Amino acid sequence: MAQTTTEKIFSEFREHSVAEFFKKNQQMLGFSGKTRSLTTIIHEYVTNSLDACEEAGILPEVTINIREIDKERYIVSVGDNGPGIPEKHIGKALGQMLAGTKFHRYAQQRGQQGIGASGCTMYSQITTGKPVKVISRYDTKKISCEITIDLKSNSPQIRNLVKEEGDFGHGLAIEAEVAEVKYDKSSFGVYEYVRRTALANPHLQISLHDPEGQDHSFPRSSDIIPAKPVVVQPHPLGISTNDMIDFAHREREFKRVSSFLQERFVRVSAAKVDELKQLVPDVDFNKAPSELQWVEAEKIVKAIHNPNVKWIAPATDSVKPIGKAQIEKSLTNILAPQFIAVAERSPKIYKGGIPFMVEAALAYGGGAGKKAGDLSSSEVIRYANRAPLLFDNSGCAISEAVKAIDWKRYKLKNFEEEPLSVLVNISSVYVPYTSAGKQAISNDEEILQEIKNAIMEAARDLQSYLSGIRRDADRKERRKAVLRYVPQLSRDLTELAGKGSPKELEKTLLHLIETKYSSEIESEEGEAEAKNGKNGNGKEEKEEDEVEE
Ligand SMILES: Nc1ncnc2c1ncn2[C@@H]1O[C@H](COP(=O)(O)OP(=O)(O)O)[C@@H](O)[C@H]1O
Ligand SMILES: [Mg+2]
Repeated sequence: MAQTTTEKIFSEFREHSVAEFFKKNQQMLGFSGKTRSLTTIIHEYVTNSLDACEEAGILPEVTINIREIDKERYIVSVGDNGPGIPEKHIGKALGQMLAGTKFHRYAQQRGQQGIGASGCTMYSQITTGKPVKVISRYDTKKISCEITIDLKSNSPQIRNLVKEEGDFGHGLAIEAEVAEVKYDKSSFGVYEYVRRTALANPHLQISLHDPEGQDHSFPRSSDIIPAKPVVVQPHPLGISTNDMIDFAHREREFKRVSSFLQERFVRVSAAKVDELKQLVPDVDFNKAPSELQWVEAEKIVKAIHNPNVKWIAPATDSVKPIGKAQIEKSLTNILAPQFIAVAERSPKIYKGGIPFMVEAALAYGGGAGKKAGDLSSSEVIRYANRAPLLFDNSGCAISEAVKAIDWKRYKLKNFEEEPLSVLVNISSVYVPYTSAGKQAISNDEEILQEIKNAIMEAARDLQSYLSGIRRDADRKERRKAVLRYVPQLSRDLTELAGKGSPKELEKTLLHLIETKYSSEIESEEGEAEAKNGKNGNGKEEKEEDEVEE
């Protein structure tokens, strides 16, 4: 090929910024489909508010307002009482991709990549050409401005900045005008997102003013602020070669690979480093971490996974669940069901190095389940670190686990048609999502099994409750049937015997029947108590252990 042709082709050679990349690949940020795009915007803003309040130790109050200004064009505003964003950082926080306070920090937070809020800024800009309007209140300041992203350079542009001094309290309010979105009441819509967020965050007070002018308010049911996220060091078994390179190349403090490994990861002692050295003698552990090559990192990671190298599992205190009592409170508050069963499992480890924990709750009767007129159906509500997962239901480990359960064993004849809400929350510093959309949990065997165990544990409580109800109903039926014969029987007997009063006999028989039924109830209750006292969940517990082995 002539050189001129090659040069001509390469005259088209360009570099692209990450912002341009995401403009072309919006679906990776959750901007696909009109309903989903609007839910994504709410999700990004609300999770940021929750993260910020948690970090600042503030009981969160979030207000959402959505106005339709034209067909499929809305003004969305979200306000919170969090710490706000200082002037110095506001541009990058909301107008630059891959920028934020949570980036690459090993902590259990909702946001991580620094593309949520800036993704919304981009979406507003490319669908309406409008900037987002922001008001940040903190210390004694109030900053108002408009922010857009220069997509070519992935850098923020701030306009109409106004600063005021005074006592304005604290919080952040963002207003974005967006098009090609739709508000609807489907299970993928904003209302459902907000309801589910409220369910998993009893400490949150959240309200939604919808485009039809209706107000939906979810008051908080608990004053307990969740513990601050703790930043933890990764366990060697939990990281890939790519992570290893990332960490090593960012290392400034430790001069050698050996000390970097010891200091930046948990459970790596000097003796462990020696073990690794033996396995990969051609890697120089004295070189600077910033000089670590891909092949070397790959060898080290392989050595870490060598079955002869034994690791102590990481501590699990980084995992912050919602908590049993908190779940019960919010279910009572929002669903008002007849019965609640919550299973809070102990933290477990997956892939040998990543702690996680599963909570499952079943709410039955009352406001539980989905309602359509008089008909109820079951609903499965999935969460990762308390954030609802509304999309990609079919590929998710939680959906798989629910499907795998034999609900009939637990006295639910037809799972689909029961007034039942199944909630599952998985908490981890590193939730294994199936894709960048972060809407489904990958089907890792260890995680799947743990979710099943949690659901079964809760299902056993529900089963006892339901069999109690069934027994009660059966007993009432039998009693009614027997009572029907009493007047006739009394008449016939006195007539046959040729003496006594039918009325007297009727009274005696009725007394006899009532005594029998109440003693039956007592003995059943006694039996149930004895069983619980002796052996907790009895036979079913064994079944689960079998599965775990
Ligand atoms: N409501 C808010 N209150 C305080 N800080 C916020 C808020 N929203 C966003 N931020 C800041 O902006 C940064 C970028 O947010 P975002 O783009 O959603 O990324 P991420 O949440 O992944 O860090 C956050 O890390 C945080 O520092
Ligand atoms: Mg975020």
